[in-house]
Amino acid sequence: MNLNVVIVGHVDHGKSTLIGRLLYDSESITEGRVEEIQRLAEEYKKRFEFAYFIDSFDDELKEERTIDTTGVMFKSKDNYYSITDVPGHKEFIKNMLTGASHADVAVLVVAADEGIREQTGRHAFLIHMLGIKQIFVVVNKMDTVDYKEKVFQDTRDKISQLLASFDYQYVQFIPASALEGDNIYKTSKQMDWYKGPTLVQALDGVMISTKSMPLRFVVQDTYNVDSEKVIVGRVESGTLRRDDEVIFQPSNVRGKINKIKIFDGEPQEAKMGDSVGIVVNGEVKRGDVCGLVGVPPTPTKEFLGEAVLLENKLRNGDKLELRCGTGKVQCEIKEIKEKINSETGEVVEKHPAEIGENEAAIILFATEPLVVEKFSEIPELGRFVLVKNKNIGAGVVLEAGK
Ligand code: GTP
Ligand code: MG
Repeated sequence: MNLNVVIVGHVDHGKSTLIGRLLYDSESITEGRVEEIQRLAEEYKKRFEFAYFIDSFDDELKEERTIDTTGVMFKSKDNYYSITDVPGHKEFIKNMLTGASHADVAVLVVAADEGIREQTGRHAFLIHMLGIKQIFVVVNKMDTVDYKEKVFQDTRDKISQLLASFDYQYVQFIPASALEGDNIYKTSKQMDWYKGPTLVQALDGVMISTKSMPLRFVVQDTYNVDSEKVIVGRVESGTLRRDDEVIFQPSNVRGKINKIKIFDGEPQEAKMGDSVGIVVNGEVKRGDVCGLVGVPPTPTKEFLGEAVLLENKLRNGDKLELRCGTGKVQCEIKEIKEKINSETGEVVEKHPAEIGENEAAIILFATEPLVVEKFSEIPELGRFVLVKNKNIGAGVVLEAGK
């Protein structure tokens, strides 16, 4: 099984160190790489730290913090893992929305010596908004509190309270030290009062459901190749097969898949995640979504979404650009239904006149015809970005609408 894990948590609580530890203890990184990173670290007259395994870009060493989402792979006894590290800083929340989009589970890192901080709550909220159902909490830096059970218990109780408001019923808490290697990959000898799994054991126990979804092929572009018109795009869900009868929306073009093309051949089918070219008769364009005639994509003019505003303000009636998949349309804020505190998930106001920076809201959007899907079902078509000269917010589709 391949599990996508996103690591979140407040600045400096140890996310990068934790990933470095996972890679190191699972022997996923070569000695060469360790040496290369050690050399880099020395150049900057730094103490060698595990965080450098993934924060090993020159700029980051100078800045000493993660500046972009970083993806790494590692293998445990049972599973392959793709791990995404998200920066702990407020201004990077948008990256996090993209970084976390494919995550099956989240690991929330909370330093034992600091406890819950601003971004602990914000990230928990975003994880919940992205529909991630399973979350593991690593109470990190236990070495700084003498591995005391009482500190772990107190921290756990506070985080439990926070997570309860996001509907996380069962959460696994793991006391750990990423720096010393306690309970990340190896069982700690310092905390014999803890009888639960290490982080890797907990992750190895995760089951993910793979519900099958209808075909959605997102059109990126069209090209003329050898007098053939090739439509290039990506299968975001389901399977695309030769001879399938399909429909493209919002262009409302119906056709048959004559050919599927990849760089070195013409396969019979393409699966979720595959980027392919297809040959269909009919005029389609970037932004179109293709599905089978029996379960077609539906262009919508209205949908309900949950969005976080990173800057600027939004009021009822505001007009701006909305991007979803490869689609780019004008939209209107038809109705702000509820304002939500992005640190606690609580509804703070019904029908507010406006929302501001760092605030979240449930919003009814009116748009030019566009194909969107419920985020929890087809994430790639259920996530959108709001643009007013630049990206000012991002969100997920709750109800695809009509
Ligand atoms: P950002 O990417 O900036 O959000 O930080 P981060 O969460 O990735 O934290 P990082 O892994 O860079 O660690 C921050 C500091 O905490 C570094 O100096 C680490 O060495 C230290 N640290 C991380 N984990 C532990 C731990 O378990 N114990 C102790 N004592 N220090 C730790
Ligand atoms: Mg980091």
